[in-house]
Amino acid sequence: ITIPREILSLRDLEAKCLETMAPMVRDYLYDGAEEGHTIRENLEVWNRWLVVPRMMRDTSAVDLTPRTNQFNRSWSLPLGIAPSAMQQLAHPSGEKATAAAARSMNIPFGLSTFSNYTIEEVKDSGGDSVVGLQMYLLQGRRDLNLELVKRAEAAGYKAIVLTVDSPVPGNRPGLIKSNFVMPKHMRFRNFSEDFGGPLDQAQDTQFNDPSSVTAVEAGSAIASEPTRTQDQATKSRGNQLIVDPSINWERDMKWLRENTSLEIWVKGILHPLDAEEAIAHGASGIMVSNHGGRQLDTCVSALDALPAIVEQVSGRVPVHLDGGIRRGGDIFKALALGADFVWIGRPVWWGLEVAGEEGVRWVIQTLKREFEVVMKLMGCRKVGEIEREMVIPKTALMS
Ligand code: FNR
Repeated sequence: ITIPREILSLRDLEAKCLETMAPMVRDYLYDGAEEGHTIRENLEVWNRWLVVPRMMRDTSAVDLTPRTNQFNRSWSLPLGIAPSAMQQLAHPSGEKATAAAARSMNIPFGLSTFSNYTIEEVKDSGGDSVVGLQMYLLQGRRDLNLELVKRAEAAGYKAIVLTVDSPVPGNRPGLIKSNFVMPKHMRFRNFSEDFGGPLDQAQDTQFNDPSSVTAVEAGSAIASEPTRTQDQATKSRGNQLIVDPSINWERDMKWLRENTSLEIWVKGILHPLDAEEAIAHGASGIMVSNHGGRQLDTCVSALDALPAIVEQVSGRVPVHLDGGIRRGGDIFKALALGADFVWIGRPVWWGLEVAGEEGVRWVIQTLKREFEVVMKLMGCRKVGEIEREMVIPKTALMS
């Protein structure tokens, strides 16, 4: 498969992807909380910051490597692939294809716990690029969390990425309307049969029967049948995985800290004082994120939340960002506002849907090419030359 020549940007690829993507998968991919304001905000915010380029600085050669090492090594770009669940929805090779593409481009990859390939399979496929296992704390099941942590350690992961923005699944009417269920042939392979994991028989009708088990994403862990309340779901069966609504800094960071030697990254920070909490409780890094607009509607975009967090953190730990990165210029703006690194979610699915591993590689290459041109036009020869003064808010010009 090759990407058609008329496809030049991630936006073009998205349009191509939507020609073939099954409606139910599309609904899942684009799903956002409530009315989708935050999803739109995540895309619009980039155009509210304008860049102010410098000239005549000999940009014949530019170095795109991040200013500092991340996860103890250097990468080809300050860009990684954020954890997203169930990638087999977009391509049979799912997370294995994504991880392989990340490896071939030398960028990092974060695996969702709710993946369709195992922690170990994905590590084999992505090698050193597979740096992080994303985790939700599961209600009443620290045993399962601990098992995931130990498997990540044994497989050579560098970090546990603890998603802290999901004490409960967000209000997501879209998923209910589209009756989302994970198709029969797919499994949550990190878990046992009871929790939607391996089943030898291909005919796994029970799992797919909405009246029995419907383990959906997990942007929120298993949202259960979204039509039922979590409470009903808990009572009606013992084998539901539910995100832990009592998650808190003191108890849970301590628990994780005591149970792993891996780096602990905290994903989903939007308030500077939460960045402070994360550091106080031993986080190795912070991911500023609103979960791709899937959790809390009308919540602030990661880019707008970033400057205050960067100021608060003041270099003590790396600050990463995700949400709405679609162009090389977006990477530039996030870095100018103080991010050390950015991650992409949905664009990976466009690549997977259109051309599997090759499609994901195309997404990374395209962002890399665009970022390189932007760097040259901005007069920056290396990432360390990106300056805060090179971006200004559009609103400042309107007063
Ligand atoms: C996600 N995201 C996510 N985050 C997480 O911590 N655990 C998860 O299992 C998932 N699953 C997931 C599925 C899908 C389909 C999407 C689109 C997203 C959120 C993800 O890590 C990231 O924060 C956003 O996707 C970034 O925004 P963009 O790049 O999609 O705009």
